[in-house]
Amino acid sequence: MTTVEKNALYSKVFSYLTTPLLVGLFLYGLNKKFGKTIKNWLFASFWNRAMKEYHSTMREMKKSHFDSMQSHKSADVELRKKSVLRILEIGAGPGANFEFFPKNSKLMIVEPNAFFEPMFYENQHKYPDIKMEKFIINSAEDMKEIEDNSVDVVVSTLVLCSVTSVEKSVKEVHRVLVSGGKYYYWEHVHDKAGTWLHFIQSILTPLWSFLFDGCNLNRSIDQTVLGCKVFSQVQQKRFDIPLKKGVWGMVRVHVMGQATK
Ligand SMILES: C[S@@+](CC[C@H](N)C(=O)[O-])C[C@H]1O[C@@H](n2cnc3c(N)ncnc32)[C@H](O)[C@@H]1O
Ligand SMILES: *[C@@H]1O[C@H](CO)[C@@H](O)[C@H](O)[C@H]1NC(C)=O
Repeated sequence: MTTVEKNALYSKVFSYLTTPLLVGLFLYGLNKKFGKTIKNWLFASFWNRAMKEYHSTMREMKKSHFDSMQSHKSADVELRKKSVLRILEIGAGPGANFEFFPKNSKLMIVEPNAFFEPMFYENQHKYPDIKMEKFIINSAEDMKEIEDNSVDVVVSTLVLCSVTSVEKSVKEVHRVLVSGGKYYYWEHVHDKAGTWLHFIQSILTPLWSFLFDGCNLNRSIDQTVLGCKVFSQVQQKRFDIPLKKGVWGMVRVHVMGQATK
C-alpha cells in the first residue's frame, strides 16, 4: 500500500467510526442529563394508575393500621389545644393516605420525584381539612430541611423498598420525631428464608428494581427497624395481602408497624 492509499483508508475508517461515536456520545449525554427525569416522569404517570386496585383492596386494613393516630396528641402545646397533629409523610407519591390522617392535620412531604408534586396537590384538593405545610423535594435519608424533634407522626407506605438506605432513612425518621412521637410504616418485605417466594424475590430483585424505580423485593424492613435500636417501642406484624395474582404475588408479604420514639 502506498502512503496515499494508506491515508485514504485511515480517513475512511475514521469517518466510519466518528458517526456512531458522535451519535453514541449524544445519546449518552442525553441520558445523563435527562435520563433520571424521563424515568421519574414515566414512573409517576404509571404509579398513579397501577395502584387503584391496591388502594381499594387495602383501604379497610390501612384504616385500622392508622386508627390510633386519631387519638394521638401533639407534643406542641399550641397544636394540642387545637387538636392538631404535625405529620410528615415520606415518599408520598401522588398521595395515597390523606383519608387516614386526622382532620386538621398539618402535613409535610418529603418526596424525591418532583413529577408527583402536581398529582399530589390535585388529590389534596379533595381533603381541604388537611393543611399542607411543605412539599420538600428530597430523599428520606437526608431530611436536612426538617428540624430535630419537630414532628408528631411520620408515615411511610411502600417507600422503604426504594430508598437507598433503610437504616439511614429510619434514623432520620427517628431524628425528626418528637419524644413520644410515632412512626407508622406499611411496607412489602422479603418472605422468610427457605420459601420459594424468598428465593424468587432474591433472584428477581435486580430486574424488578430496574423496572419499578429502584424497588427491592428482598428487604427485611421489619428486622432493620428493630436492628437500628433507636425506638423505645416497636410493634409490628407481618401479613399477606389479599392480592395474589400476577406481579402482586411478588409483594404479597407485608409488614405494618408502629415505632415510638
Ligand atoms: C411505590 S411508591 C409509593 C407511593 C405512596 N406512598 C403509596 O403508598 O402509594 C414509592 C415512593 O417512594 C418514593 N421514594 C423513592 N426513593 C425515596 C427516598 N430515598 N426517599 C423518600 N422517598 C423515596 C418514590 O418517589 C415514590 O413516590
Ligand atoms: C437484594 O438484591 C440486590 C440485588 O441483587 C443485592 O445487591 C442486595 O444486597 C440484596 N439485599 C439483601 C438485603 O439481600
